[in-house]
Amino acid sequence: MGKSVFSPVHKEREVSDLPYRAKMEKTSQEKNSNIVLALDFPYEKPENRATLFKRAERVLNEVQPYISAVKFNHHLALPLGLFDRVQKLVETAHEKGMLTIMDCKANDIGATNATIAQYYYAAGFDAIIANPFIGWDEGLKPIFDVASQQDRGVILLVYMSHKGAKEGYGQTIIEAESGAKTPQYVSFAKKALKYHADGAVVGATYPEKIGEIRKILGEKVPIYSPGIGAQGATVETAVKAGARYLIVGREITRSANPAETAKKLRDISRSLRSS
Ligand code: XMP
Repeated sequence: MGKSVFSPVHKEREVSDLPYRAKMEKTSQEKNSNIVLALDFPYEKPENRATLFKRAERVLNEVQPYISAVKFNHHLALPLGLFDRVQKLVETAHEKGMLTIMDCKANDIGATNATIAQYYYAAGFDAIIANPFIGWDEGLKPIFDVASQQDRGVILLVYMSHKGAKEGYGQTIIEAESGAKTPQYVSFAKKALKYHADGAVVGATYPEKIGEIRKILGEKVPIYSPGIGAQGATVETAVKAGARYLIVGREITRSANPAETAKKLRDISRSLRSS
C-alpha cells in the first residue's frame, strides 16, 4: 500500500519488493494491459471441484498474455480452498507475471479483518478489497496496518456496479466528522485519499460516478472498474470516464475463446488510452 500516515512500520525494500500500487502500475505497463481478470465461474458440485480448478487454471493460462492481474472471489476460494488450489493459482499467476487481488470485501470488526487480511496475504495475494462502511478505528485501520507491514495493497469500494448500489453508496449522508451533507460515495472517495488506499472500486455501469470520483482522487488513487460485458458497461465508457484498471469476469470466463476476448478488450482499452 502507499505510505500510510497511520502506519509507521516500514521494512527494508528490495527492488522487486515494491509497494503494491507501484507494482500494479509497473505490471500493467510491462504487460501492456489494464485488464484485471475476475476468475469467476458458476456453482459446481463440490465433488467436481477438481474440474473447476482445471477450468480456472486453463482460463488463467490462456488469457495471461493480455491481463495484468487476477481477482479471486469467495465463490472460487470456497470450493477450491485457500491454502490448497487457490494458492496454487496465485502462484501460477505470479509465475506468469500477474498480480493477484482477493475480492473478500472485508467488512467486519478490526480484529477479525486483520486476521482475514493475514490469511489472504499469507496465501500470496498482493491486495485485498475492503468495505469502507465499517469506518477507520477498529474497522479498516487494522487491515491497513497489516498491509503496510507486508507491503501489500488495500483497495476500497467506493461505488459498486450493481443496481442496488444506490441504496448504500448512493445515499446522501450527514458526515460523522464534519456534519456536512454529502453523497456517501464522495465521502468514501475522500476517505480512500486520506487513508492512502491503493485503489478505489467504482462500477463501470456508472461512468458519471467514475468521472466525479476521478476528480476527487486525481492520480493519487487509481480506479478499478468492474461491470464491463455481463453487467452491460463498455470498455470505452469506463476508460473515457477515468477508470485506470478494468475488472472483467464473465465476458472472458464464459467466452468460447477467453484469450481472444481478453485480447479484444485489452486492445480496445489500449487504443483508447494511447489516443
Ligand atoms: P463480471 O462477470 O460482471 O464480474 O465481469 C465482476 C466481478 O467484479 C466483482 N464486482 C465487484 N467487486 N465492487 C467490487 O469490489 C463492485 O462494485 C463490484 N461489482 C462487481 C464481482 O464480484 C465479480 O467478481
